[in-house]
Amino acid sequence: MKNQSRLIREWTWKEEIRHRDIKEKIAASIASKVRDGEVIGAGSGSTSFVALQAVARRVHAEHLRVLMIPTSFEITLFCNQLGLPVTTLSEYTPDWSFDGTDEVDPAHNLIKGRGGAMFREKLLICNSPVVFILADKSKQVEQLGQTVPVPVEVFPMALSYVEKVLYTYNPVSIQIRTAQGKDGPVITENGNLILDVRFQEIPLHLEKSLKAIPGVIESGLFIGYKNIQIINN
Ligand code: A5P
Repeated sequence: MKNQSRLIREWTWKEEIRHRDIKEKIAASIASKVRDGEVIGAGSGSTSFVALQAVARRVHAEHLRVLMIPTSFEITLFCNQLGLPVTTLSEYTPDWSFDGTDEVDPAHNLIKGRGGAMFREKLLICNSPVVFILADKSKQVEQLGQTVPVPVEVFPMALSYVEKVLYTYNPVSIQIRTAQGKDGPVITENGNLILDVRFQEIPLHLEKSLKAIPGVIESGLFIGYKNIQIINN
């Protein structure tokens, strides 16, 4: 029997969605790519949410069979609400995926993770033959780090070691991301902390260097991913 949770039915995006009109256009373009029988990876954030709604409308209107691989509790709940069946990377590899971003540079390198989902988003991107990154104009920058810090997910016990190593990069600032609706730090869906780090510059090797620090689970840097295609309108 299907669950009839009122809380899930009434679950909604927490705040007003910025640039909604352009996000709707991008969403329509994503929905038009859906084919019957596909497994589709769904990133997190407001742009992905708008795209997910458009995908659901098309799936229901045309009776398409799809399986979604969500990257956060939030997007899982929206899949449940929208009647889109979900699966995991343990069971399926996506045919393709879509996701938002916080920044994209001219070489299509990204900073992601405002919503704290960058670890699962990176797993999805690494497993997808093609990923459509939905980036309205407000996300386009000349250089990464212009508008947002780099989120770094850290195993809690490793905090002081990771902090020590990060300071050797002479960062502009390092902050523990603070929760809203809970006292203290944000705890990710993987049970970790997030450090928001502003670097003086972001060289091409930084993603790999951060990942090599024991205790760093993942960063929000996506540098040199050849399977990324940008959709901006
Ligand atoms: C989630 O952790 C992020 O990587 C989002 O994909 C990114 O922050 C984009 O979010 P918006 O679409 O809400 O701007």
